[in-house]
Amino acid sequence: MPEPAREPLLVARDVSRSYDVRGHDVLALRPTSLEVHAGDVLAVTGPSGTGKSTLVSILAGWDRPTSGTVEGTARTVFVPQRLALLDTLTVLDNIAVAAMERADEVPSLAAALGVDHLLDRFPGETSLGERQRVGLARALHARAAVTILDEPTAHQDGDHTRLVLDALAATTQDRALVIATHDAVVVGVATAVVHLEAAVAS
Ligand SMILES: Nc1ncnc2c1ncn2[C@@H]1O[C@H](COP(=O)(O)OP(=O)(O)O)[C@@H](O)[C@H]1O
Ligand SMILES: [Mg+2]
Repeated sequence: MPEPAREPLLVARDVSRSYDVRGHDVLALRPTSLEVHAGDVLAVTGPSGTGKSTLVSILAGWDRPTSGTVEGTARTVFVPQRLALLDTLTVLDNIAVAAMERADEVPSLAAALGVDHLLDRFPGETSLGERQRVGLARALHARAAVTILDEPTAHQDGDHTRLVLDALAATTQDRALVIATHDAVVVGVATAVVHLEAAVAS
């Protein structure tokens, strides 16, 4: 029997973004459409500068499109490439803050991402790769319907890329992942790919 059609969690229609750079219109993202459904692992790929970060920030609601729309009532959580950890909180609290009522689950999540030995440190006392995994742990702790990640393996070696992908795979079937990446290993686990082409100046 065919499965009943499910409402998409997020729908982007002809979303584009341009910037005014000293009087010149710079197109950062060509009009792009996509749908995100429960169970999806959607990879956003394309050469550097084609708007991957721009698109995922728009999907996460951290940026607004110049044209087009994003619809959906699903809760999203975003891990930007610059990570946005809180410097004055320990690693434990940086992760727990996403869902204080489930703070007791943080140690096992931190262990899955190989940062459980750092729980009482501050972000400034950890490596960039470790900070990236802390940011991922916080996002997974939030258990949002759509987890949106910008280059989540950019600062990981092969073993830690595997660790990150295993932790992401533990996401349940009623949720979705959107991952901007140029890492072929990450693209390999995607269920769908949106490939961005170079924007042309308008
Ligand atoms: N604040 C900004 N002002 C002007 N141009 C920008 C700004 N942010 C990004 N861009 C431009 O938008 C394009 C897409 O950027 P980005 O989304 O970061 O691409 P990607 O993540 O695929 O490398 C790039 O050409 C970049 O230079
Ligand atoms: Mg980028």
